[in-house]
Amino acid sequence: MAKIIKVAHQKGGVGKSTMALNLALCFQDQLRVALVDSDLQGSIYHVKDDFPELAILSSEQIGDIPNLNYDLIIVDTPPYLSNKLTELFNFSDFVLIPTKAGFFDIMTIRSTLALVKFSQAKNTRLDFPVTL
Ligand SMILES: Nc1ncnc2c1ncn2[C@@H]1O[C@H](COP(=O)(O)OP(=O)(O)OP(=O)(O)O)[C@@H](O)[C@H]1O
Ligand SMILES: [Mg+2]
Repeated sequence: MAKIIKVAHQKGGVGKSTMALNLALCFQDQLRVALVDSDLQGSIYHVKDDFPELAILSSEQIGDIPNLNYDLIIVDTPPYLSNKLTELFNFSDFVLIPTKAGFFDIMTIRSTLALVKFSQAKNTRLDFPVTL
């Protein structure tokens, strides 16, 4: 069964997509990796053709995530709340929360952590280290 890492932060521009893409590229030689772009802006999905070796999936395939045949699934998320985002927390193993060290960046982490904690009530596998 795939390990699912979600990269999330409600604040925009903190490096979520950059981290998700770099993680996927880092592991793609050792593991079967899929990168899912759950952002409707689709910034990662739009550069799909630049990374032909990497399986990059669109936000429309989120529902399929638990059944995908990969070792590692990395999910990039948007800086806004959506039903899909909450659903994603329910089947993630690990949430990575990259952040800038600015006041508003740190303050916004609280709403992201509240979401994670809410989901942990249902999904006890969920872990959430914060990286600065
Ligand atoms: N570790 C880093 N150090 C410095 N700059 C970074 C780092 N990671 C990303 N950036 C820069 O920060 C900007 C925002 O990065 P990115 O698009 O990955 O953020 P994001 O959280 O996905 O944004 P959004 O919430 O809009 O989707 C980009 O210009 C990117 O090059
Ligand atoms: Mg992004």
